[in-house]
Amino acid sequence: MAATDLERISVRLAGRRRENVEPESRSLSLGGHVGFDSLPDQLVSKSVTQGFSFNILCVGETGIGKSTLMNTLFNTTFETEEASHHEECVRLRPQTYDLQESNVHLKLTIVDAVGFGDQINKDDRPIVDYIDAQFENYLQEELKIRRSLFDYHDTRIHVCLYFITPTGHSLKSLDLVTMKKLDSKVNIIPIIAKADTISKSELHKFKIKIMGELVSNGVQIYQFPTDDEAVAEINAVMNAHLPFAVVGSTEEVKVGNKLVRARQYPWGVVQVENENHCDFVKLREMLIRVNMEDLREQTHSRHYELYRRCKLEEMGFQDSDGDSQPFSLQETYEAKRKEFLSELQRKEEEMRQMFVNKVKETELELKEKERELHEKFEHLKRIHQEEKRKVEEKRRELEEETKAFNCRKAAMEALQSQAMHATSQQPLRKDKDKKKASGWSSIYSVTIP
Ligand code: GTP
Ligand code: MG
Repeated sequence: MAATDLERISVRLAGRRRENVEPESRSLSLGGHVGFDSLPDQLVSKSVTQGFSFNILCVGETGIGKSTLMNTLFNTTFETEEASHHEECVRLRPQTYDLQESNVHLKLTIVDAVGFGDQINKDDRPIVDYIDAQFENYLQEELKIRRSLFDYHDTRIHVCLYFITPTGHSLKSLDLVTMKKLDSKVNIIPIIAKADTISKSELHKFKIKIMGELVSNGVQIYQFPTDDEAVAEINAVMNAHLPFAVVGSTEEVKVGNKLVRARQYPWGVVQVENENHCDFVKLREMLIRVNMEDLREQTHSRHYELYRRCKLEEMGFQDSDGDSQPFSLQETYEAKRKEFLSELQRKEEEMRQMFVNKVKETELELKEKERELHEKFEHLKRIHQEEKRKVEEKRRELEEETKAFNCRKAAMEALQSQAMHATSQQPLRKDKDKKKASGWSSIYSVTIP
């Protein structure tokens, strides 16, 4: 390549780079109050008018205390029905409620993984599919030409509360496998359910064991963010308390002269909101009061972003990198269309070939069947002829026998008639003989005095 060409190209690239460089910004001081310091307030007011949505996924075995904890967390009674232990597979049951606190509206969706842990095959696919389906719905809305994300009911799961059975032993393999599958799709907060059924020292050891197992299996649970100064300290402290050991109850018990939510036992009272009894308050603080917005944010910027990136890449879209040609939607569309059409053609050809093969196979099968039938028919025909011949022979024999019999019968009849004739003649002769004898006797009677 000539030197002048190289120069020309480098000048062009430098120009392009200059075009892409952001304009330098200079700091200026204002002469008086302008008013854009109200921007955060404008945002707050806009958000409050719009309302918020928050979606919680509860994963834990049947009867572990999911509904009770939700009722305790939001201090209300959600309508839920008890799950049975005989579900055929895990079923996701979302229920949405409109809640209001002061002037803030919250569209809360609680999704129950009904039947989790009850199946023999322990299939967690329905949970993953449900989370993906919510991402897909959002992506489809984003890709629409006329999209309405402003009033779109966002059903993406913001947090998964994973209920661990208080065995005091270790995590089940189902827990590890499920959490591993979910950790790139949702913010997981592990909690030890029914923590009142395990002693304090056992609980301490159990927590350490759980965290150790999660780390050694590479399960990424949600970490309360420590980059915001205002909450960094409390979040850092709370991260060290994970997994939270919680107790749920909506029952009110009188302790001293106060009514508190608690579980009453013959030996004492477990107070839900007493931090010496369980971590319920810590969970409520972290989940609702401090990090609800971060959970929503993380869902959008981390989990949904990952889903969206993979999906778009799968669809053939890609970003331009550095000096390469800018990404063109039209070209990608054309390339994808061509790819799709050739794939379609290939599939069509494959199906046609399959059809031809099937027809050939069926034809061969039919021919084989026909041959078998023919053979069977011939065989039957031979048997039939043989039978017929035998019957004929028998008939002939019978006819001969009949003939012989008739002859014998005729002879017998002739003999019989002769015999009859002979017997009918015998009395006559006897009479004659008698008469002869009496003639003689009369003669004698005459001659003998
Ligand atoms: P399904 O939705 O049917 O799977 O059950 P669930 O996980 O929603 O459990 P639910 O909240 O219905 O509670 C089941 C039983 O456990 C009830 O008898 C609750 O009173 C009891 N329970 C709930 N939370 C706790 C707890 O923290 N400690 C103890 N000891 N029992 C609890
Ligand atoms: Mg329930």
